[in-house]
Amino acid sequence: MCGIFGYVGMKDPVAIAIEGLKKLEYRGYDSAGIAGVKDGKIIDCKEVGKVSILESEVNNIKLQLDVSIAHTRWATHGEPSRINAHPHFDTSHSIALVHNGIIENHGELKKYIINQGITFTSETDTEVIAHLISINYEGDIVKAVQKTVPMLQGAYAIALVHKDHPDLIVAVAHESPMVIGVGVDEAFISSDSQAFAPHTREVVFLSNSEIAVVRANKLEVFNLEMKPVEKALEKLLHGSNDSSKGEFEHFTLKEIFEQPQSIKNAYATRFMQEYGTAYFEGLSDNLQELHPIERILILACGTSWHAGCVAAYMIENMARIPVQVEISSEYRYKNPIVEKNTLVIAISQSGETADTIAAVRELKAAKGAKIFSLCNVQGSTLVRESDYTIFLHAGPEIGVCSTKAFTSQIVILSLFSLQLARMRHMNREQGKDFLEELQKLPDHVKKILGNAEHIQKIAKKYAKYENFFFLGRQYMYPTSLEGALKLKEISYINAVGYPAGEMKHGPIALISSDCPTVALCANERTFKKMKSNLLEVKARKGPIIAIIEEGQEEVTEIVDDVIIIPRTIDPLSTVTTTIVTQLLAYYVALERGEEIDQPRNLAKSVTVE
Ligand code: AGP
Repeated sequence: MCGIFGYVGMKDPVAIAIEGLKKLEYRGYDSAGIAGVKDGKIIDCKEVGKVSILESEVNNIKLQLDVSIAHTRWATHGEPSRINAHPHFDTSHSIALVHNGIIENHGELKKYIINQGITFTSETDTEVIAHLISINYEGDIVKAVQKTVPMLQGAYAIALVHKDHPDLIVAVAHESPMVIGVGVDEAFISSDSQAFAPHTREVVFLSNSEIAVVRANKLEVFNLEMKPVEKALEKLLHGSNDSSKGEFEHFTLKEIFEQPQSIKNAYATRFMQEYGTAYFEGLSDNLQELHPIERILILACGTSWHAGCVAAYMIENMARIPVQVEISSEYRYKNPIVEKNTLVIAISQSGETADTIAAVRELKAAKGAKIFSLCNVQGSTLVRESDYTIFLHAGPEIGVCSTKAFTSQIVILSLFSLQLARMRHMNREQGKDFLEELQKLPDHVKKILGNAEHIQKIAKKYAKYENFFFLGRQYMYPTSLEGALKLKEISYINAVGYPAGEMKHGPIALISSDCPTVALCANERTFKKMKSNLLEVKARKGPIIAIIEEGQEEVTEIVDDVIIIPRTIDPLSTVTTTIVTQLLAYYVALERGEEIDQPRNLAKSVTVE
């Protein structure tokens, strides 16, 4: 869950590397470092904290390099410190190396290295790689890497420089993302192509156990037998959209306000109003593949898992197909039972979530399953592992807490549910009605965003509480889980999403005047029941913030604060309600003075298991 970057070419390797790190900061930001070759020496600079701290130190010392590698860290082994920050070095300071991933057998390797009389300076697993390459180095740095790689177990994306080779970077990857950007007299390596997209969109994705030798005007790739490997140059379709905050204080708020457009992007060109059905390029042409489906398995983590839970209600209600939704990190250890005619859907905004990728790989290997994925990042690992991908088209999501990606996932999953339903029993008119409701969402969302001031006022009133419940039924239950996660992530409040009908079986013991409840009432089918649950909360003096649709004003007299949203159909009410819970979380965090775009302990893409 770290970000690695490297540059060799005619531009300033230090400035380009710092620029690249800033675009990778979403992958971890507890410390950062840069190293490279200058006048036959390895020079480096490492700092605790964000890339901006490294940048000012680099400017202070006027760092100059002929080639650079850089790293922004999310600590796995060893606390955030300058010593543990990457790059790491061999004892002779001839090699500098950055790494993303985990070396599972670093303990035994460390013992082997110490037995060679070598002492360690850091607590990281990464340092073992630098020492091993040095032990294996007999003048040819690529051969030294070739000998070292088979000794490593676990996931790694590694880039290194050697003081005697100031014109090249050596890169190697296994189960961890590594992409090479090929420019004119310049080349880049990165965990994510967005980091160098402004410079080149010609890319090569390194596959497992391939070694790349990257020069400004020459790229060589070898397998572990040192045989050259022909790699296709791919073109990134989506350049990096505007990745500035614009007039917004935080990326998170900007991305919340982008949702009228991102929702449109999610459904644009993906439906046929006249036939009342959805259309996914490349998928809808092979509809016969969807006919035999008897069940669906959804794999995801975090917010994406919440989207999967909403999809389960949609698909079962609309298409009458049973759906199993699994948390990826749990599923892969279950010795899974996968019946024939099961469609597997993996949902991941980043496409780099290690737990989801690992579960997908096991399913493919063990059951030969076909994998459909929903993803927001072209060329990501999950996309390359999938048989078919539906892209969110949400644009880069920089805020660590997911907002626009979630609502785009819901929109796409609703269209997929519609397609399955229309292939079974839903008639054209019903399909057309559904699509009409779907196309109203951007205006509904705009209207809710226009009420942000009222939501901020409520957020200020409740910002002092340390415990919250988010309650809902049916579609509003997973929507409650998502609303609670937002509040947890960016304001560090203990927020619990719960099925409203389940409160009386224990958790209602926690209700008191110190524990507000956010009531998600939009699900029309269960509104009456929801109202009784709120009376139970009220009877125990629990403050209530109700998110209601137009027409549900009857709850106003039993709650403390109300946020009214436009009415939509139950399958789509997650989108409208979630805009409110996103804003609520944002404004509570703002009131509490928390760091919003990069909350403590988190990273945008969890690339370690
Ligand atoms: C969401 O706000 C969190 N940042 C986190 O739960 C995230 O959804 C999860 O890590 C899954 O990420 P993915 O969608 O990129 O797989």
